[in-house]
Amino acid sequence: MDQIMLDKATAIQEKAYVPYSKFKVGCCIKDSAGQLHVGCNVENAAYPIGHCAEKSAIAQMVGQGALRIKEIVVVGSGDEICAPCGGCRQALMEFADADTLIHLVANGEVKKTLPLKELLPYSFGPQNLEQS
Ligand code: THU
Repeated sequence: MDQIMLDKATAIQEKAYVPYSKFKVGCCIKDSAGQLHVGCNVENAAYPIGHCAEKSAIAQMVGQGALRIKEIVVVGSGDEICAPCGGCRQALMEFADADTLIHLVANGEVKKTLPLKELLPYSFGPQNLEQS
């Protein structure tokens, strides 16, 4: 993983709007053309409908016209890694491959790297809807 991805995820994490959880998350996605897209979590007073950092980064990527994810970095708050929530795993699957690597960062360094297939085994995705 490039240091620039970590730097960008850490920088956008600072912008997170988290008055309720106080838990800032930053995400940087590299698309298949090598372009980087970032996102942070954005909460609102109706707690369940806030936006996670990963989905924010996906929205940024799609808005730029890119549809395939090559690599992902997630920076959470505190000493523990912040693994993508269930909803974000599904959203990442829409645009990533089973072997796409996800780097999980805590205290400024990558603590764990794993492929999407390990985060979301036995998944349901676009391929399930393909007509035969
Ligand atoms: N959060 C993310 O942004 N990404 C995740 O994958 C896990 C959780 C956010 C949502 C909420 O704003 C805060 O972290 C606490 O759950």
